Amino acid sequence: MALLAPEIMSTTSTCLQLDELNERSLQNHIPNRREVPRHIYLQSGTLEAATLQEIPSPSSELESQSQYQLESQRPGFTPIGEQCQRQELKQRALLLKAAREQYTLVTDHDIPSISQKGEILIKVAAIGLNPIDWKAPAFNFGIPSLPWVNGRDLAGTIVQVADEFESELQAEGKTTRRLRVGDTVLVPSTDYRDIRKAAFQEYAIATHFNAARIPSGVPVHVSASLGVAFVASVLALGVSFGLDLSSAERVPGPDFVRILRDIGENSGRIPDDIREECFSGKEEAERIKRGDWLAIWGASTTTGYLTIQLAKLAGLNVICVADVARHGKKLYHAGADLLVDRHNPERAIEIIRGVTEGKLRYALDIVGRETATLLQGALHDPTSSSTGDNEASANQTGKSHLLGLTGIPKEQDRNPAFAYHTVPIKLFHSSPAVGEGLVTWLEELLSAGALTLPETVHAEGGLGGINAALESLRDGTVSGKRIVVSI
Ligand SMILES: NC(=O)c1ccc[n+]([C@@H]2O[C@H](COP(=O)([O-])OP(=O)(O)OC[C@H]3O[C@@H](n4cnc5c(N)ncnc54)[C@H](OP(=O)(O)O)[C@@H]3O)[C@@H](O)[C@H]2O)c1
Repeated sequence: MALLAPEIMSTTSTCLQLDELNERSLQNHIPNRREVPRHIYLQSGTLEAATLQEIPSPSSELESQSQYQLESQRPGFTPIGEQCQRQELKQRALLLKAAREQYTLVTDHDIPSISQKGEILIKVAAIGLNPIDWKAPAFNFGIPSLPWVNGRDLAGTIVQVADEFESELQAEGKTTRRLRVGDTVLVPSTDYRDIRKAAFQEYAIATHFNAARIPSGVPVHVSASLGVAFVASVLALGVSFGLDLSSAERVPGPDFVRILRDIGENSGRIPDDIREECFSGKEEAERIKRGDWLAIWGASTTTGYLTIQLAKLAGLNVICVADVARHGKKLYHAGADLLVDRHNPERAIEIIRGVTEGKLRYALDIVGRETATLLQGALHDPTSSSTGDNEASANQTGKSHLLGLTGIPKEQDRNPAFAYHTVPIKLFHSSPAVGEGLVTWLEELLSAGALTLPETVHAEGGLGGINAALESLRDGTVSGKRIVVSI
């Protein structure tokens, strides 16, 4: 192992040369054909000109690894070992230079430095694209300053860890740490205000409690598809709806309500703007539990697909609203108890009310304000006198809950008897206990093969292909799949 000169980094650290890392990655990630989901290769950046080609996952994985090795040998690319010998701490990155513009590929962006204990530096191998990656520039939100680097999902290899992290663990009496140089990890990068952590660059910083190790057999580029969606799904179920995930079959997860109680509402350790979402209404009568109905509008989204699976592991009855002709088979196999087509929204609400006898208390919208406003019509309303509800009301205690991932009804459209939620996504990067609980559970789920991962579409062109790939995401031509870019 060749250790790098630590003194040129902003904090002391341990790192490894990339050639050794590549070798290890290849040894550790020979995919198992049975466990790997289907992938489609997107040959061109735009779908109009694209040839969609299904390829066996194992070869695509090895292909992307060898592509990565070739990339690292190309002129102008400086392996990190040489970078640490000074000066050339530069990398390629996609910069957003102005709102409503495309991203610009630059080759001289600073490689981000570890600056706090517990941080790691990752050589990015794959980037998963999220709707926010095009929405933020298009609608000019979530951009702390300009120029900025975006990108919320990445997977790659740890090339450096802060040594302070190690000392701290030793002080806590722990002899091993969860993450080491050479590990392949996936990182949901929810902390968009920290430019060092963005995915659209060759190297990114993460905090140790925000990185999940990718087990052997799970392809790196597929792993880049699920991070933020998984975090949103777990926090929606486990925090906003109060689901005790320790009741999950096969792979019990954390009980985040208990973790948050241990942290304490007034400890000053939970950001003010999410404190209410994290602590209020978490009495036993308000928590969703095994046997309860959960309706998901937008079930075919990546977030919806993962939510169905986690909800089923925890024993919920799941109603999926989606384009059933297109996605019904996939949702059925993910465990949907009821499929409702989205194309006639009024009828969809009637169906949900009929099947649940007006007793539905938990609904998750993953599409937008309009569908969230419709979906609340399916919830049990204790103040309503409509057919069947009075009897249902008499037998129920507790409120009905609506969570909108992309928007909740306008103030004037809300029902005062309902609880409205937005997902406290920043909890993931602001609370080590929550972050670590979440990534550790993800590692266990992946190792146990308890999750079917989203189908992926592989976009060509590396960082330079992201603008075109985001266009495909924006115009909806890639339906029900995650676009992943290898770099
Ligand atoms: N607040 C947060 O922190 C947070 C976190 C994660 C995600 N989100 C948001 O959640 C949404 C989903 O994200 P994602 O990454 O999971 O999305 P995604 O995988 O890119 O989802 C795209 C899917 O949405 C479906 N869809 C589009 N319009 C629909 C409609 N009117 N009704 C039902 N389904 C519809 C499409 O299905 P069809 O093929 O049927 O068109 C498509 O397959 C995005 O708006 C994202 O910004 C928010």
